[in-house]
Amino acid sequence: MFIFVILGLLVCTEAQGISAGTPVFVLKGEDLLLNVTKAVVLGKFDDFSWKCNKSNIVRFTFNDKGASPHYTGRIEFPENNFSVKLKNLQEADSGVYTAVVMKDSGDETEAKYSVKVQDRASLPLLTVSSVSESSSSCSFTVTCSSQDSHINSTFTCDTRTCSQEGGERSEGIPDTFLQVYQSSGSIICNHSNHVSWTNDTNTIKDVCHQQDDPEGLSVCLVKTCVFSVGLIIMVSAVITVHLMEKLNKNK
Ligand SMILES: *[C@@H]1O[C@H](CO)[C@@H](O)[C@H](O)[C@H]1NC(C)=O
Repeated sequence: MFIFVILGLLVCTEAQGISAGTPVFVLKGEDLLLNVTKAVVLGKFDDFSWKCNKSNIVRFTFNDKGASPHYTGRIEFPENNFSVKLKNLQEADSGVYTAVVMKDSGDETEAKYSVKVQDRASLPLLTVSSVSESSSSCSFTVTCSSQDSHINSTFTCDTRTCSQEGGERSEGIPDTFLQVYQSSGSIICNHSNHVSWTNDTNTIKDVCHQQDDPEGLSVCLVKTCVFSVGLIIMVSAVITVHLMEKLNKNK
């Protein structure tokens, strides 16, 4: 009984995987290669079609092929098999693409892709609020927002490092993500989907003024070096002059 339940579950999850198809994300305007990896041989009375949501895109018969009127001019046949290239995809082309062979013995699905066309992620906006600074620490809240969602994160910094709370990657509209993180002294608000990403950043130093400035530190170091070298040269000069005078007297 128990084994049957497990088997049933396995069959179900497998069937689900197949019914959804391999996920494919395409940037709007790009092309999509609908690929057939299996070797397909058509009999005289068989035919092969690529479909989107069950409606025909292109149909191959034993010795001919043709695209449905809606797709003419957007289809290429890159190789001499059943793979086709669909050009200049738009959001409305999202859907389930299947390759189906129709034979006397019944239909067979040869490939299945769940295609989603996405435009580039829009530029997000990073805003800083409730900054509180003391001599040893500084904390502030950032909001990372896109047109349709936003996330918050709080940073607490001492003079060298900051710890972060919140801001984990979160999905707003499906397959689109916002995330806040810190990297080399900056706060980064990242907006991404499966085909692109873009971000808005803010330097921590501009928010927390008491943060150590590594560049400032090195400038200070250079000044110290120049001063020391100058001092050494001067002292050596004085000693050399003294020695010369002594030598001259001894002559
Ligand atoms: C296919 O079906 C999905 C879900 O119903 C729909 O969102 C999509 O626009 C359809 N695609 C086409 C090309 O008709």
